Amino acid sequence: MLEVLEQLPADPILGLSAAFKQETNPKKVDLGVGVYKDEQGRTPILHAVAKAQNILLANEDSKTYISPQGVQGFIDGMLELLLGKGHKTLIEQRVAAVQAPGGCGSLRILAELLKRANGDLTVWVSDPTWANHIPLIGSAGLKIETYPYFDKDTASIKFDQMVACLEKINKGDVVLLHGCCHNPTGADLTKEQWNKVLELAQQRGFLPFLDIAYLGFGDSIEDDAYGLRLLADNLPEVIIAASCSKNFGLYRERVGLAAIISANRQSRDALQTQIQAIARAIYSMPPSYGGALVDIILNNDELKSLWMDEVTEMRERMQTLRRLLADKIKEKSGKDFDFITRQKGMFSYLCISPEQVKKMRSEHAVYFVDSSRVNIAGISHQNVDYIAEALVAVL
Ligand code: LMR
Repeated sequence: MLEVLEQLPADPILGLSAAFKQETNPKKVDLGVGVYKDEQGRTPILHAVAKAQNILLANEDSKTYISPQGVQGFIDGMLELLLGKGHKTLIEQRVAAVQAPGGCGSLRILAELLKRANGDLTVWVSDPTWANHIPLIGSAGLKIETYPYFDKDTASIKFDQMVACLEKINKGDVVLLHGCCHNPTGADLTKEQWNKVLELAQQRGFLPFLDIAYLGFGDSIEDDAYGLRLLADNLPEVIIAASCSKNFGLYRERVGLAAIISANRQSRDALQTQIQAIARAIYSMPPSYGGALVDIILNNDELKSLWMDEVTEMRERMQTLRRLLADKIKEKSGKDFDFITRQKGMFSYLCISPEQVKKMRSEHAVYFVDSSRVNIAGISHQNVDYIAEALVAVL
């Protein structure tokens, strides 16, 4: 019976990691999957996380199930981090939330919730968006459309076209927005542009769905939360999928938060039962470990400040690498790739064709996604000359 199922092509992002492992060229460079790396190419455990692990090991006294919503201290700590301490939606008890297995788990729970609320709605995603958004949201059976976002020719956001599209979106549809550090382009909305998005959401009545996986990797935790907080301050309902994979370096522990700001307390209570029931029907309840670590960090002043310093260090390193790569390309070819320095977070879109990306891989063993998205953190002072030379060779 099962032989009817065909072999699928490799995942566009995860498949690259597998191909990279097979690559025999000693000069190979991995700019594929979005994982932070230090100058030595390692993805170390953050010091704040290592300390939290010791505390957890010393204090955890049971492996019995945790509650269906997950670790409550994690949920409270994350909501404060995202929305700001004492946010009115928290005081008014308008936020339903569960710990979820990673940002992906959060996106999927929330997509299932949307499907329960209205199976006919359309989720609008940016063109381009993260490669896994469409499979994740589409698997819940929701319709998906794209709004214009990024112009490869000018390496900037097509904001006028985005606005023209959002102006036509129906009340009750959903618009997926990247909270900060847009994946794959690194091109973020300015504060003025976020203000316009709010105005459109108010006029049109669409529901914003914020995916925020890189908080702190753009400008600062506060600046990166601007769009999310603006919408949360001014709209009755906002959906939030947050991930701790990148900024806590907890990738393999699968730590995410699915949250919904609801119109009132009564609706919040109903939504809380819905998201818990959705999780129960898929995987029952989240794993405890990663959420417990984030709980310890966010609720301990010393560890929180250590963690924030580590986020700053990762951000500043990526900013330095952006400058370095753009300078090396200019030095070697005279070409202006300064847009790389204006993009934010872990990714940049090099704005080269899929054929040029394939040549980078086959002729130079520099691996990144076909869209031309590169993981900035994969660059180092050792490999930057090689990457720039390879790029110039395929231009
Ligand atoms: C990425 O975009 O590379 C990461 O978010 C990893 C993933 O799951 O795709």
